[in-house]
Amino acid sequence: MAIRNLRYEGDEILKKKSREVPEEDILTEKIQTLIDDMIETMHKYNGVGLAAVQVGILKRLIVIDLYDDNGPIVLINPVIIKTKGEQEVEEGCLSFPNQFAKVIRPQEVVAEYTDREGKRMRVKAKELLAQAIAHEVDHLNGELFINKIIPGTLEYVEPENNN
Ligand code: NI
Repeated sequence: MAIRNLRYEGDEILKKKSREVPEEDILTEKIQTLIDDMIETMHKYNGVGLAAVQVGILKRLIVIDLYDDNGPIVLINPVIIKTKGEQEVEEGCLSFPNQFAKVIRPQEVVAEYTDREGKRMRVKAKELLAQAIAHEVDHLNGELFINKIIPGTLEYVEPENNN
């Protein structure tokens, strides 16, 4: 496994739309390695989610980890089929280091996706998981949280020194 280089604010690739992963590619070493690398990269930077485009690959593939019992979740070709309600939440993005702002996200999201074994799944997500899925699916469509923040809420936070 390897840490991949992150793409940051200003990189034009972040505005591009990602392409579906062909079902027959999911079990290939290339895709499975990409998944493992994305999880490792997300963990290294303490992120709760990462889209493939953020490591420079325009595939509809996201990983999410809320650091709870569910462990990392891999969503391939995710589609949000239903949303319910709204929540005003604090949000950041690994492509926008040290920047946080408030955004409006759905309170609940129902999404379909293919897991890393190639099985089509459905998840009903609330709160932080709903927020994370909405944020990451936006990345697949070239949409960035910075363009939907509530005006006046953007903050720059210096990273904590853990030494
Ligand atoms: Ni992001």
